[in-house]
Amino acid sequence: MSVEKVLCMNAADHEISYANNSVLQKAVISKARPILEEAITDLFSKTLPTSIKVADLGCSSGPNTFQIISQVIDIIHEICHQEQLKLPEFQVLLNDLPGNDFNTVFSSVPGFYERLKKEKGEMLQDLCFIAGVPGSFYQRLFPSTSLHFVHSSYGLHWLSKVPQGIENNKGNIYMASSSPPNVFKAYAEQFQKDFSNFLRLRSKEIMPTGRMVLTFMARNNPIFSNEDYGYWELLAKSFLDLVAEGLVKEEDVNSFNLPFYTPCEEEVVEIVEREGSFDINELQVFKVDSTPPRDGDDMMHDKDFGLNNIYIQSGKNVANILRAVTEHIFCSHFGDTIIDKLFIRFATHIANGLSNTKKGERKGERVNIVISLTKNYEDKRMKAASPVGVANVIEVSLHKAFRYKCKKGGKPSRKDTEDGSTPNKAKSARCHKGKNDGKKDKTKLTCYNYGKLGHFTGECTKLKKVFFNFMFYFDCFVARQNLYAHHFSMLVVDS
Ligand SMILES: C[S@@+](CC[C@H](N)C(=O)[O-])C[C@H]1O[C@@H](n2cnc3c(N)ncnc32)[C@H](O)[C@@H]1O
Repeated sequence: MSVEKVLCMNAADHEISYANNSVLQKAVISKARPILEEAITDLFSKTLPTSIKVADLGCSSGPNTFQIISQVIDIIHEICHQEQLKLPEFQVLLNDLPGNDFNTVFSSVPGFYERLKKEKGEMLQDLCFIAGVPGSFYQRLFPSTSLHFVHSSYGLHWLSKVPQGIENNKGNIYMASSSPPNVFKAYAEQFQKDFSNFLRLRSKEIMPTGRMVLTFMARNNPIFSNEDYGYWELLAKSFLDLVAEGLVKEEDVNSFNLPFYTPCEEEVVEIVEREGSFDINELQVFKVDSTPPRDGDDMMHDKDFGLNNIYIQSGKNVANILRAVTEHIFCSHFGDTIIDKLFIRFATHIANGLSNTKKGERKGERVNIVISLTKNYEDKRMKAASPVGVANVIEVSLHKAFRYKCKKGGKPSRKDTEDGSTPNKAKSARCHKGKNDGKKDKTKLTCYNYGKLGHFTGECTKLKKVFFNFMFYFDCFVARQNLYAHHFSMLVVDS
């Protein structure tokens, strides 16, 4: 299945359009705003170029597309106002897959300029230039070192392809708590490849010290089988209902898997650090309620209040949110005749789930990660390619202070190493604190170094695998103070 051909949010003229059913994504954008603000302020408060190039990747079509542009312009407008600086020109590059409803995006541009004019005055409107860039963000999209800032919200959990070798994920359409272990591994590996590739590509396009803020859906739990896959499992159940009714073939469900992946925080950090082109400034894990606002828990549990209607309405709303995103991909595999029935079943399953919610329990919460990154001055892998660079690789691995602030559930972060611990201790204290007071059950953790279970990569006693050469990615190993590399010939260097 070519993801580029089948992944497409429902267009504006569709009854269940993405534009009208993207409140969840809107809430996510709002929650991530403080990180966006911090990144842009940090980037432009020292030097403000006369022309700023910003790209939004996976922009889709609808109000959210323009919400991001507005936020970026607002923040820079505010910096200029405070520092009494001349407003720059804005080149805004909106990217999505070629099948995206770019017609609606482009026809909404004049209305956006009008709003800008009303809210910020004539001048800003004249300074803003919007362009569309069709293509996959898993390929090069922009000229080298041309961008100041890259943003992407709710696009990166889509993979470039369905992982291979997961034919045994029967009865599921995505990872499920019951999926066989090879399915989890294949999904994780595909994400690792795709996200590393994304970082590598963007590092070529972003200017040195340029910034990137990425938000995507995530997993709460590093242990795959302990995760609640919520709506995806209910969608699979809805497909199986249609199988039982003879409307869908069982083998069609068995052969379908979504090109989608929700990483956990630890995986994201690991991939960014291993890829090496960006430093992490901040990472936050936060939840957003995907069910519409209700009048409080007490009311939800008042059976005399006719509240079944609330659950039914919530079920429909959530079903529409998921339908606007997945309809195209489902139609391409199952045909379009089953779609209405599928989402009616799905809405009912959600409503039933909500009506069985215990007081205080939040069934519709979606976990998200927002990560703020800075492009390195110099690519660490480039440094590593020269003999002088060898020491730098070791330096990076030994002295990589854990510079970013990591917040879970929106709690304020502590400053780096303010507890007096070594940087690495600060990292685990800050990022891995959970129900077990910072101690994770590591029995099912997969180490990214060699894929063995039972420990984090940082605790791996084996030689650390790192990328060595920018051009060829030689295998190389860092062992404490020494770096060993091998390709055709063996190179041993002492730091
Ligand atoms: C759920 S929408 C999010 C849209 C918007 N950013 C928002 O927050 O409302 C995800 C978007 O990412 C796009 N997308 C997914 N994979 C992509 C890829 N490889 N390249 C470009 N866009 C992609 C999809 O087409 C879709 O429009």
